[in-house]
This record gives sequence, structure tokens and C-alpha cells, in this order.
Amino acid sequence: MRHRTWIAVIAGFAVLFVAVQIQHAQSQERGPRRGPRAEARSGASLEMRGEMNKVGFAVAMVRGLGDHKVNGKVTFKQTDDGVEINAELDGLQPGEHGFHVHEFGDCSMEDGKCAGAHFNPTKADHGGPDSKNRHVGDLGNIKADGQGHATYNRTDKMISLNGAHSIIGRAVIVHAKEDDFKTVTSAGDRIGCGVIGIADPKMQH
Ligand code: CU
Ligand code: ZN
Repeated sequence: MRHRTWIAVIAGFAVLFVAVQIQHAQSQERGPRRGPRAEARSGASLEMRGEMNKVGFAVAMVRGLGDHKVNGKVTFKQTDDGVEINAELDGLQPGEHGFHVHEFGDCSMEDGKCAGAHFNPTKADHGGPDSKNRHVGDLGNIKADGQGHATYNRTDKMISLNGAHSIIGRAVIVHAKEDDFKTVTSAGDRIGCGVIGIADPKMQH
């Protein structure tokens, strides 16, 4: 009789153990239980994380390709009106120079060919910066003065530092000649190149 009692007790514990295991597995499948308040909190933190991950500022240091002496800096700042572009370049021939964002952030070839074509995610035609139909990367021309110094300032609504039109990781290309906004080849050789990288908004100077 005593022996049977022990078996009953052990069997009882075994059943209890299995039941606890099953319940635990089910709760794992359902995921941690969260009240509406917990949902709201995690939603807010996701949104905050999204905001923090958004790029607000970017920089490209432009250097001469081959024997060209172009040298300078281009900054991109995300604003409510678009991306504010500011460039200061030196070492240019006086006059207009095609100024674009090309699709690849690769300046490693002397002729700049590995930067690819104008950044064109919408499969549009080449144009000027104010054209309705233009490549996203069509920023027009940058004009150098008699000393070879050029500045560029524009707030552009087509390029972005985030999403499908993001220019991060692509390249700024400066050309030998003026872009006529009609043909891609009008701007001639690629003489300067700079990779666009994410920058610290606190480091704007
Ligand atoms: Cu170009
Ligand atoms: Zn173009």
C-alpha cells in the first residue's frame, strides 16, 4: 500500500510539471503580456528611435581627380523646406561647372567613372535644378570667379538625406564644363569628386 502511495505522489508531480511546461511554452509563443500602457510606451520609443536615426546633416570633401586641383567642401542640411546645400570650392577654372550627385560614392578612379551616372532613382530625364523633370542628382552648375573660387547655395526639394532619394553614400561630382541642362555629356570631364557621408549636426562650422 505504501509503495502505491509513493507512485501516486510521483505521478501527480509529473503531471503538474508537464502542465507547467505547456503553459510556459504557450506564453512564450504569445510573447510577453503587455498592457495598453506598455504598448504606448514602446510605440513612443520606436518613434523616438526613428527620429534619432534620421540623418540631418551630411558632408562631402571634394578633391581633384587626376591632375585637377579642385578642393573644397559641400554640406547638406535637412530642413523643413528641403535640403540646404552649401559648397565652397577652390582650384577651378573661372566659369560654370556642372555640379551633380552621382549614384555611387566611389572616387577611386582618376577619371571619376566609378561614381556612375547622375543619381536618378525616378528614371527621369536629365535637366537643371529647377526643371520639373530632372535627375534627383541634377544640381546644375557651380560658378567659379576669376580666382577659381566658387560658392553654391541652394535649398533643394528633390534630394534627401533619408529614404528613397537619399544621397548618403553617393558622390558629388564637379565637371570641367557647363551643364546645359539638356544633355548629360555637356558638362564634360569629371574633375572633382567627394563621397557624401553622414555628419554630426553639432559639428556644423
Ligand atoms: Cu556629373
Ligand atoms: Zn542629370
